[in-house]
Amino acid sequence: MSSNGSNGSSATYEKLTKKIRNYQTLGACGALLSWDEQTLMPSKGAEFRSEQLSMIAGMVHESSTSAEIGDMLSELRSSELTQKSDSPEAVNIREVSREYNKSKKLSREFVEEMTLVTSQGQHAWKEAREKKDFSIFLPYLEKVIALKIKQAETYGYEKDRYDALIDDYEPGATFESIGKVFADFRDELAPFFKAIQDSGNQPKSKIIERDFPVDAQEKFASECAKAIGFDFSAGRLDVTTHPFCSGIGPGDTRITTRYNPNHFPDAFFGTLHEAGHGIYEQGLNTKYFGLPIGQAVSLGIHESQSRMWENLVGRSKPFWKRFYGDAQKAFPGALKDVALDDFYWAVNDVRSSFIRVEADEVTYNLHIILRFEMERAMINEEISAADVPAVWNEKFTSFFGITPPDDSMGCMQDVHWSAGLMGYFPTYALGNLYAAQFFAKAMEDLPNMYANFEKGEFGELKSWLNENIHSHGQRYPAEKLVEVVTGQKLSHKAEMKYLRDKYGPLYGI
Ligand code: CO
Repeated sequence: MSSNGSNGSSATYEKLTKKIRNYQTLGACGALLSWDEQTLMPSKGAEFRSEQLSMIAGMVHESSTSAEIGDMLSELRSSELTQKSDSPEAVNIREVSREYNKSKKLSREFVEEMTLVTSQGQHAWKEAREKKDFSIFLPYLEKVIALKIKQAETYGYEKDRYDALIDDYEPGATFESIGKVFADFRDELAPFFKAIQDSGNQPKSKIIERDFPVDAQEKFASECAKAIGFDFSAGRLDVTTHPFCSGIGPGDTRITTRYNPNHFPDAFFGTLHEAGHGIYEQGLNTKYFGLPIGQAVSLGIHESQSRMWENLVGRSKPFWKRFYGDAQKAFPGALKDVALDDFYWAVNDVRSSFIRVEADEVTYNLHIILRFEMERAMINEEISAADVPAVWNEKFTSFFGITPPDDSMGCMQDVHWSAGLMGYFPTYALGNLYAAQFFAKAMEDLPNMYANFEKGEFGELKSWLNENIHSHGQRYPAEKLVEVVTGQKLSHKAEMKYLRDKYGPLYGI
């Protein structure tokens, strides 16, 4: 390659990254508006806010799919910048091209129709859920499924139509690859859960349903989020209805929670969960803001970070050996007479429940596997929208031994299908599997990790995650990242070992 060619592609690369940074900065303004909408905005501002957000979304879509960007990408793809495949330049060119090619396939009309249908769908879902009447939601679910099928056909796929949709959230993953891991997982998980159910040992779960004043909860949860490494000088914690984390940009990551004065775990573990997402966002390389090498890999990997801090750290015995005294001081009315062991078990209570977001570490995965199987069947037209309640109830009964009393406690509990987020659910369980596998490796590399948790020191785990996961951005696709970090392909083994080691002794099995 001549030096001219090399200079030419460097100049094009500079120009491309500047363009990307511009529209990503615009997108970050939208993210801040959206954070505000969900935390502080007065309710009468809703209509104008939708206008602001859709205008920004339109501008971002237009500039990110422009012909100019397409031309620059095709020049760069054959340049020497892509020769070293895991260099920042090569990764950025590869991943921006992938996104560009996907977005280009969807027409503006399609995007608008999807936005409209899912917006109406969410309203209908809310009403249907309140009235416990699936028939209100049914026509919208039919439309959403039809649009998602169309989207999958437009994207294209090799084996399974569902693959095209999974790829939006977990790039490179397929029904076959995830399905195999989930099937092996379920084979071991189901009998393990049965043994827990049948155990004569059960926790005193009412302890955590006492009075936990909201002010004290906020203070205690913030202190713990700070202790595990969420940087409050580069982030905030606020209140919302549906908790989330939003990495606005360098130095600004917003996390949110909601408080239940009579159920300690909701806000506390919710805060640690979102702080885990936040620590990932804060660990990204700010030099590459807006570019793939400075962005999270996939939703599954993102969820592995939140689950790790929430569960593998926050629900661990070493964590509570350090913080239980503080908790007793923060909530003297509720915890003064409660022993550490009883509290620890109460926050690790495993039982069948109807609602996914309230499920424990063991049963949570079964809730996801059920949705994964159903989504795939819907997208492949093996079941119709009208079949959803009956199929849900049948599967639920076989997984959990209990039948939802109505569809609001069953197939209508989650917003995802009304919002067109099909293919999203599996990333939650993948997050658990990735988390366990990463954590096992961290434990090997950092043999004093648990001993340090007991002292309230979490810095070495955070640094390990910064170095092994966060700093890579999208250098490797998720499935490769797991192999690079742990030396093993993704499997259910680390998660099953973790669950057995933790819950076996509690339940005497
Ligand atoms: Co999460």
